[in-house]
Amino acid sequence: MTPATEPPRSATGAGLPADFVWGAATAAFQIEGAAREGGRTDSIWDTFCRVPGAVRDGDTGDVACDHYHRWRQDVALMADLGLAAYRFSVSWARVVPAPGVVNAEGLAFYSDLVDGLLARGIEPWITLYHWDMPQWLEDRGGWADRGVVAEFEAYTRAVHAALGDRVRHWLTLNEPWCSAFLGYAAGEHAPGRQDPQAAVDAAHHLLLSHAAATRALRALDPDAMVGITLNLTLADPADPQDPADVQAAALHQALVNDAFLHPVLHGGYPPEVLDAWASAGGVPHVADGDLAAISAPIDVLGVNYYHGALVSAAEPAPDRVLPRPPAPPRPTGNPMLGSQGHVVRRDLPRTTMEWEVQPDGLRRLLVHLQAEHTGPAGVPVVITENGAAYDDVVAADGTVHDPERTAYLLAHVRAVQEAHAQGADVRGYFVWSLLDNFEWAHGYAQRFGIVHVDYPTQTRTPKSSARAFADVIRTGHVRD
Ligand code: NOJ
Repeated sequence: MTPATEPPRSATGAGLPADFVWGAATAAFQIEGAAREGGRTDSIWDTFCRVPGAVRDGDTGDVACDHYHRWRQDVALMADLGLAAYRFSVSWARVVPAPGVVNAEGLAFYSDLVDGLLARGIEPWITLYHWDMPQWLEDRGGWADRGVVAEFEAYTRAVHAALGDRVRHWLTLNEPWCSAFLGYAAGEHAPGRQDPQAAVDAAHHLLLSHAAATRALRALDPDAMVGITLNLTLADPADPQDPADVQAAALHQALVNDAFLHPVLHGGYPPEVLDAWASAGGVPHVADGDLAAISAPIDVLGVNYYHGALVSAAEPAPDRVLPRPPAPPRPTGNPMLGSQGHVVRRDLPRTTMEWEVQPDGLRRLLVHLQAEHTGPAGVPVVITENGAAYDDVVAADGTVHDPERTAYLLAHVRAVQEAHAQGADVRGYFVWSLLDNFEWAHGYAQRFGIVHVDYPTQTRTPKSSARAFADVIRTGHVRD
């Protein structure tokens, strides 16, 4: 990113830079629909949705928010909100529907979308991979096979060839922890595998693919802003006086955060991460030169933050077990995720995902990143996702009132302001999500949008949180 401008102090002292980027985020599989149109073939999520019991209510991405057909209306909604930027992902299976085939029709969809955004003054931020690998590639071993790296680079080049004349901001991967460990170890996400060795290989190949895409984008466009988005958390020990809990919390945070932050920013996997992976049955195959490639400089670190974690070493008492939202059931006894300790319930409000609401965790995370990771590496941070699911209903007068989400978003933006005031180099905030959408294994049951979607009619209704967020964008801060 460009050097930060000196933060002008606003009337309230909020102090975010004048060029702080306010945006909203989505992902292809979660909103596009048109699963069998325009030359697209199955992704691993299309296949996973057909596995009985894998996705709540048997929901699929076939139609989703029908954004493929309604994107003009959605861009108009973004413009009404005053968004400066829109983060969306490109569907790999739409662009490369079969081995070696580049689908011009698929690329044309994204090209039109980019034009539509730019015409409204909205900057496109592209995520190249948001969990929807083409099924043909999974059939060759997917992320667990090193051959994926060359395929990802070829796909990146194809997307850049179509959009690179207009797109500056590129995020290679979204939340590779989820792709590797929910997809290949827990089996909760596509492709639904439960194989610890495949999971750590997937993690390494995801990072190598990030490296290959970064290198390609830099060669194609020296002005490209390239980064990666990680899901990061902040873990606290259930009992800070208990060394076992302290160690469990530290390991939890290392396995989620440092397993990806260290290779990207510091050039290696932390020993405690490698040890935990090995004892759960997985040792990544790291070749000479891999770690140097993975740690090539990035321009921005994308941070997705939703909640913190209170972690205990021992099984929690029944009243401290964190509930799970209804179906689908979590596959049990997975050694890989078991090594992350037990996340226990604390006295904080929770969303319908049963995720705790802890805005101060975002402040602490940003300050921690600045001190330990991004600051020393000289990499600015952008919040590429933050948001909450609640049971929203359309009232008789047609409005959707979502005070809990509004409070969540404002509290988290305030946390960003505080972190910035404490020295964190944070340059932007993207709300998750623009629209209610397909929430992976939870189907359409969890609503994260600031715009409500009535799926049978595809009616979009901005919720009251959308108005509150538009107000933040207009003023550049949260009012005290
Ligand atoms: C992170 C993922 O990137 C996104 O796809 C998902 O919908 C949100 N978290 C909410 O779970």
